[in-house]
Amino acid sequence: MPYLHKWSPALVRTLPHTRLGTGPTPVRPLPSLGQSGCEIWLKDESGFGDGGWGGNKVRKLEWLLPDVKRRGRKTILTFGGLGTNWGLATALYGREQGIHTALGLIDQPRDQHVEEQLKRLEASGASLHFTHTKNRTIALAPWLILRHSSGLRPPYILPSGGSSPLGALGYVETAFEIAAQVESGELPEPGHAVVPTGSGGTAAGLALGFALAGLGTRVVGVIVTEHLRLDDEAIGKLAGKSAALLRQRGAAFPEPDLNFEMTEEWLGETYGAPTPESEAAIERARADGLELDPVYTAKAMAALIAKSAAGDFEGGPVLFINTNGPR
Ligand SMILES: Cc1ncc(COP(=O)(O)O)c(C=O)c1O
Repeated sequence: MPYLHKWSPALVRTLPHTRLGTGPTPVRPLPSLGQSGCEIWLKDESGFGDGGWGGNKVRKLEWLLPDVKRRGRKTILTFGGLGTNWGLATALYGREQGIHTALGLIDQPRDQHVEEQLKRLEASGASLHFTHTKNRTIALAPWLILRHSSGLRPPYILPSGGSSPLGALGYVETAFEIAAQVESGELPEPGHAVVPTGSGGTAAGLALGFALAGLGTRVVGVIVTEHLRLDDEAIGKLAGKSAALLRQRGAAFPEPDLNFEMTEEWLGETYGAPTPESEAAIERARADGLELDPVYTAKAMAALIAKSAAGDFEGGPVLFINTNGPR
């Protein structure tokens, strides 16, 4: 049973959940990354998902796919960059549940990683629409909706990254899982949790979840894209909407005290473009047996390394959330 259902039994009936991955995901120390007396731990989400792949995307789909079914929708319409991990996970995990995926794809720098991902997207059976820019995607949205309606039923529309208030619950759930690992003594209580941020659901969900689970952990969201507004206000708003959704579905709790900060300092030139710090972070992490992806986790690790060297992490160990789950 998911932690959220145990925490608030009213949610069992009102908030359907489909188990797609096996938790708890492992935690372990990263000894060679620790600096200036700062202890670093890893929560490795990379194996989360039925086939042992998907990472943070699957956490969101566990709450989203049953909602799509409950509403009788046949197709998910969602968005991302050309190399979207989110789009691939939605297409493949959705397909297993009989749900088709249509993707509006905007341009990003095309390197080998993106080209390979595009091939996987093509093979996934998803309908791909190359809309190139955010503005063209918005302009084409009415046509995309019409094109992917089944009879009078419109597609189930999800923002890029699946970061709707419902999708973000995947990381409220993960925060409860982390709290249980702290309680069992597997993990010291983190002072900070560092996470890459592309659409905000992971950071917002964790901030809300830590507050609800009673952990003092501060979320550091490392922004990796310039295409969406992901500042403190935007993330606070999303967490607030997820909290409102939980209340609507029957959970009762006092106003959560959200503890998080967002930083854009490690984005570099653009979404997907490497920085010297992100390339160095990939090498550094390998020493601890951790494989990072260039777009998301490498930039978050670059932030973690720089901030720990600067002494920014007072108040306990730092938990790095490895959100990448390559196929
Ligand atoms: C590997 C990886 N990390 C992090 C993220 C970003 O998470 P969020 O969109 O919830 O901010 C994504 C999004 O697709 C991702 O693929």
